[in-house]
Amino acid sequence: MKHFLDINKTSPAELRQMIDQAGVMKTARGNRPKGMMDDDQPLAGHMVALIFEKPSTRTRVSFDVGVRQMGGQSMVLSGTDLQLGHGETIADTARVLSRYVDLIMLRTFEEDVLLEMADHASVPVINGLTNRTHPCQIMADVMTFEEHRGPIKGKKIVWTGDGNNVCSSFIHAAGQFGFDLTFTGPEPLDPEPGFIAEARAKGANIEIIRDPAQAVEGADLVVADTWVSMHDSQSTKERRHNQLRGYQVDDALMARARPGALFMHCLPAHREDEVTSAVMDGSQSVIFDEAENRLHAQKAILRWCLGV
Ligand code: CP
Ligand code: NVA
Repeated sequence: MKHFLDINKTSPAELRQMIDQAGVMKTARGNRPKGMMDDDQPLAGHMVALIFEKPSTRTRVSFDVGVRQMGGQSMVLSGTDLQLGHGETIADTARVLSRYVDLIMLRTFEEDVLLEMADHASVPVINGLTNRTHPCQIMADVMTFEEHRGPIKGKKIVWTGDGNNVCSSFIHAAGQFGFDLTFTGPEPLDPEPGFIAEARAKGANIEIIRDPAQAVEGADLVVADTWVSMHDSQSTKERRHNQLRGYQVDDALMARARPGALFMHCLPAHREDEVTSAVMDGSQSVIFDEAENRLHAQKAILRWCLGV
């Protein structure tokens, strides 16, 4: 069973194959209207369930459109609408859905829910974000970086702010794709040490530098994300903002990175908190390419999972 659960659980060769296929499929579409089907219809006859226990714009729409462009059909389900949200076990839900659909994409809170779904499903399961990781996002980010700057191997990526789920998948990707990652943020919000150790063991240079101005020196890419994630209690908002205020990405910080360094944000962004509008809308920002590439990268992930 080819589940796509995390970047560190998928081999570098398979990840590379997916990134390359995403690029080929994107090029093949050219500038045709977004609703038009691909020439290839590898998902014809396939039904995909897209389950969301948290809000989503990009993940929801890009998966839905991607499945349809490839000739498949999809259904978007909210966790609260399913019996899953009313006491039915994850294992039973996985077994039942496996009788109806060919693949399950799940966005949930605890990683254990995703893992249990994968353990008991007899169809592939894709991680559409958990509290701990967000692998589909980083596949799109690697694709986007390489479109603009060529191979990501050996490049320096700087993560600013909270060492959250998206940061963790970047650390996984550093180990698998062979780039260097510097985290700059306050110590209480450091990324998971186990993920850092694992990426280092694979040869990635992972650094923690508290001073953001020092951290971004030589950066090829600067990344920001929200200071308060969907799973974070709103009661922590004020404390987080106080801890993170010094890590806002603004023009002055971007000016300390390598000339021509890119800026990324998985979105949704909180303008003037983690990043200024000037950076988001500036010439170094590739945030909307990232959003578009969710579509192309996930189409390749779907094909890999289904072996089509
Ligand atoms: N970046 C991302 O996953 O966005 P959504 O929460 O809108 O899906
Ligand atoms: N870190 C954010 C990412 C949203 C796509 C969150 O989990 O809310």
